[in-house]
Amino acid sequence: MTIKELFDTMEYGPAPESAAEALAWLVDQGDRFGHFIDGAFTAPGDGFDSRNPATGEVLATLTQATQTDVDAAVAAARKAQLKWAALGGAGRARYLYAIARLMQKHSRLFAVLETLDNGKPIRESRDIDIPLAQRHFYYHAGMAQLMESELPDAEPLGVCGQIIPWNFPLLMLAWKVAPALAMGNTVVLKPAEYTSLTALLFADICQQAGLPKGVVNIVTGDGGVGEMIVASDVDKIAFTGSTAVGRRIREATSGRGLELTLELGGKSAYIVFDDADIDSAIEGLVDAIWFNQGQVCCAGSRLLVQEGIADRFHTKLRARMDGLRLGNPLDKCIDVGAVVDPVQLQTIERMVASNTAGQVHRAACTLPENGCYYPPTLITGLSTSDPLMQEEIFGPVLVSTTFRTPAEAVELANNTRYGLAATVWTENVNLALDIAPKLVAGVVWVNATNLFDAAAGFGGVRESGFGREGGWEGLAAYTRPKGKRKALARIEPASGHGAPVDPIDRTAKLYVGGKQARPDGGYSRPVWGKSGLLGHVGLANRKDVRNAVEAASGAAGWARTTGHLRAQILYYIGENLSARAAEFAHRIDSMTGKRSGAKEVEASIQRLFTAAAWADKYDGQVHGVPIRGVALAMKEPVGVIGALCADEAPLLGLVSVMAPAIAMGNRVVLAASEPYPLAATDFYQILDTSDVPAGVVNILTGSHAELAKPLASHLNVDAVWSFSSTDLSAEIEKAASGNLKRTWVNNATSLDWSVDHSKRFLQAATEIKNIWVPYGE
Ligand code: NAI
Repeated sequence: MTIKELFDTMEYGPAPESAAEALAWLVDQGDRFGHFIDGAFTAPGDGFDSRNPATGEVLATLTQATQTDVDAAVAAARKAQLKWAALGGAGRARYLYAIARLMQKHSRLFAVLETLDNGKPIRESRDIDIPLAQRHFYYHAGMAQLMESELPDAEPLGVCGQIIPWNFPLLMLAWKVAPALAMGNTVVLKPAEYTSLTALLFADICQQAGLPKGVVNIVTGDGGVGEMIVASDVDKIAFTGSTAVGRRIREATSGRGLELTLELGGKSAYIVFDDADIDSAIEGLVDAIWFNQGQVCCAGSRLLVQEGIADRFHTKLRARMDGLRLGNPLDKCIDVGAVVDPVQLQTIERMVASNTAGQVHRAACTLPENGCYYPPTLITGLSTSDPLMQEEIFGPVLVSTTFRTPAEAVELANNTRYGLAATVWTENVNLALDIAPKLVAGVVWVNATNLFDAAAGFGGVRESGFGREGGWEGLAAYTRPKGKRKALARIEPASGHGAPVDPIDRTAKLYVGGKQARPDGGYSRPVWGKSGLLGHVGLANRKDVRNAVEAASGAAGWARTTGHLRAQILYYIGENLSARAAEFAHRIDSMTGKRSGAKEVEASIQRLFTAAAWADKYDGQVHGVPIRGVALAMKEPVGVIGALCADEAPLLGLVSVMAPAIAMGNRVVLAASEPYPLAATDFYQILDTSDVPAGVVNILTGSHAELAKPLASHLNVDAVWSFSSTDLSAEIEKAASGNLKRTWVNNATSLDWSVDHSKRFLQAATEIKNIWVPYGE
């Protein structure tokens, strides 16, 4: 070929990476692997083959873990944990650092093994997966070092069960193992059955680093092994994978007092405005949907392009697709490699075949004869209700529709049950920064896509799961506040008889949408104190819950108010309560029969002032990520929070929940103390006189057991908390699995309300959205 011809065709030859070292490592291990338990590999047992999806060749044989294996792994992790935590942050940092160094030293081996096992282009495993995995260990070595000084109130959870998928095998391991170890936990990890090899190489690295035995345990096998881990005696489950399995895990763990983080699926929008740099946006799309063959939870799989440029954009996109090189993943010139397994390939084929809408364009590449390959595909002209616009395909298939205005773009982008990521492409920085906060997603990239770093938390909202991985925010998933918890003591409403203290009928109503409302069922109950009948309260039912949630949903404008305004309203509530302090104290004393009312009212006023103080100061962060640009970690309200308030502290329990939640822009539906509800019903008079907009705070009275399920299963409730003296943790967590809402339940223990937990409440009342804004030319 002449040089002129070369310039004309831009043709270039293959540049294959050698598989020799990785294959030699497999031979070295005997091609058969057991598990890594208590610092050593077990003898290989019955199992299954791990294949190279690009060729179908068997790479190694893996062992399917039995119940005995899982029990042994959990026992080893349990045995090692206290000693590992006792090493201190600085002690643990040295091991994490050693692991990072060894991963760096063997990075090419890791990259080639990953590509052989998963089918992803070597370009990606070499330049993205493996360096990012190392970075997680370096970063978290630093977090271990800083734990005592920066997180003095945090302690490790204990043993963490970690279940990871096959799309980023080593990277997902790093995201899970590094923070867990840094914070003093030990782990039992299960890699996905298709891609366990780099996890086993990682086990080898742990041995080389001299990591104390039992700190990292790795068991291999299918979903059944995952189920065994979920059922075992661990303190936390961290899961990344499909939403369906995530939901099953939520159900299986409900009521067991386990911490849980779920990083699930997505159908992330990729929004291109008409002023965008089109060529860059198209290159971005190549990374958004053809990176890792589209098998990326945050893949920009839903293209939304502004109508005026749609034709030009799609034409250019099709031309770019036709230039993509698909083939041997070990070839350094390849853009698109193999899909992970024939099963996944069939899923993609089935989903695309079931679609009859729109126009399909398949990239003009030739598929290799063998191996799991699927061509880059674009389907234009779909409408929002088409299944392929809603369902996660998890393959190299992009679906596309158009929009006219920015508002319509936001509406279309948010028209999904998921909320993992989104991309905004425009040359107008004001537009980008206006749109980014409106997108319901955990991560937003501006004029870039699929940027990740250990310093910036990653995770979703809605059915994309909960919890963050990475950054300071990710550490919360591996720690809990220090301090002993008291066992829960159920408080029954007092019974009595005789004449009312006050001859006038005092039946306190519910407080819904800024108005007093009679309970739907028309029932009430007497509230007795030591001195006699204090009044009656309405018994709310599921219909009242629905009304209250509707009112709270309607008050969404509260989230858009400024912290400055919310602070003033909270101060105002505090002042108004202060003016009626003696009356409230008397009310509390007469209900509880104690003399703690004055103290409780004073503490409630302080909680209100503290929340007011934080309302305009609980700021986000700017993460220093290794790009020319920033990741803005913005704190956003969770949305509508339903809470069963503490029974033992009728006013303080309610205020301690309400104040930080509304300070952050949430709306709340509060079930008042069940035995002592009258302080809450008096309190809405304070709200009425304090400029709290209707629907921001809604107060129900009645049985917590009756209200828990409708609150936890309501699809417009984003989080449910329970501090009730009735332990409703199991019911709530189970009912919450429907839309995977966040939960904070007491697991039969109670908080000490005399202690100010405002920071914990502020944290639970906010979601962190990381908005990546690169800069430069
Ligand atoms: P999956 O969710 O079934 O598997 C992920 C991990 O969970 C694997 O390690 C698996 O062995 C384990 N697992 C499976 N069932 C389990 C159970 N009942 N209890 C505990 N652990 C269990 O995902 P799969 O089948 O590999 O892929 C199916 C679909 O899931 C894909 O087509 C894709 O749509 C989605 N997916 C999403 C991922 C994400 O990162 N969001 C990652 C992988 C898959």
